[in-house]
Amino acid sequence: MTKSTLSTVSIDLGERSYPIHIGSNLFGTASSYASLPKASHAVVVTNTTVSPLYADALMSALGAHYPAVELVVLPDGESNKNWQTLNDIFDALLGKGCDRKTILFALGGGVIGDMTGFAAASYMRGVPFVQVPTTLLSQVDSSVGGKTGINHPLGKNMIGAFYQPLLVVCDIDTLITLPARELSAGLAEVIKYGPIADLGFLDWIEANLQALLDRNPEALAYAVQRSCEIKSWVVGQDEREAGLRAILNFGHTFGHAIEAGLGYGEWLHGEAVGCGMVMAAHLSQRLGLVDAGFVSRLTGLIARAGLPIKGPSLDASDNAGRYLDLMRLDKKSEAGEIRFVVIDETGHAFMRGAPDAVVREVVDLCCI
Ligand code: NAD
Ligand code: GLY
Repeated sequence: MTKSTLSTVSIDLGERSYPIHIGSNLFGTASSYASLPKASHAVVVTNTTVSPLYADALMSALGAHYPAVELVVLPDGESNKNWQTLNDIFDALLGKGCDRKTILFALGGGVIGDMTGFAAASYMRGVPFVQVPTTLLSQVDSSVGGKTGINHPLGKNMIGAFYQPLLVVCDIDTLITLPARELSAGLAEVIKYGPIADLGFLDWIEANLQALLDRNPEALAYAVQRSCEIKSWVVGQDEREAGLRAILNFGHTFGHAIEAGLGYGEWLHGEAVGCGMVMAAHLSQRLGLVDAGFVSRLTGLIARAGLPIKGPSLDASDNAGRYLDLMRLDKKSEAGEIRFVVIDETGHAFMRGAPDAVVREVVDLCCI
């Protein structure tokens, strides 16, 4: 089969710039990796679910460029995004005699991408890595921009590094095997880009949602392309989240509280973000930034994407208090004050604090 790159989006970060190739027949085609530096070892890091689906094809493509292609298979799931599993990667790299020119290939969703990127950032003080994302969420968000890391029991993605890949290969064909629930989770991050940066894209998502749910390849490729373009625009201005990049966390402050409060893996990250966006939209309304019509438009789209729009109860006696406690641990908090990403109706997002009483109202309104 011939490789078919439909589009390439660039991340412009000076000497750390790299391309994101989006298309069909990409990940298992040797020429997709022709621009990478030479190395004695290429190591594919993946998990028990993705390995039987796609590892052979990737390893065979890499065999055209590297004398030794190794495989590291990790346990699947957000609950394994931790020190123990990260250490399994280091054990494997050291056990296989991997040197500091070894290139790691993250084959899988955001959990594999985040952990492999962090392993690459720290193994022998830094080895190169490539993202080969196989979930919608990882193609539109996590594989791009260089945030890597693991969870801590007290907070999501609390340990990590900014470390950019050399290349991102988004092969739309891999989305065929993705469970429907995971596709919906990815749509949450696609929808996110509309209210924070591009209302025209929000219109497009509304008009094409069914095509996306039906996995129409052209619709998926455009959603990945436009999402990556917006993320590239943000990351190119603020790689290390001094300010602007925080807008990519719309819905995540509430969402991370859901994930940590329920235990990682109970709700999918995208599900928590989808519901978190509903909460953040209501907060924006209470702060006078959007009207009820916009909140209900966004909520309707999130529901149509197959995502939850009501949050779980995290504490029977004081649910809102539990959300507040968890959100105070968010990385955006400053001196104990929670900083929320809020939206207006013009396709812009920004950071705001909010009185606890208002946050309590929102949590009470939006939880089961
Ligand atoms: P995931 O990595 O857990 O993948 C979801 C599930 O789909 C897993 O069971 C996986 O094995 C399976 N899978 C992957 N590809 C498949 C395929 N093609 N066919 C069948 N099954 C497949 O979850 P995710 O939603 O991809 O990523 C979520 C993670 O990404 C979270 O840990 C989140 O914190 C992180 N994240 C990071 C960033 C960032 O900027 N680094 C941004 C957003 C999210
Ligand atoms: N997903 C948020 C970020 O990359 O900043």
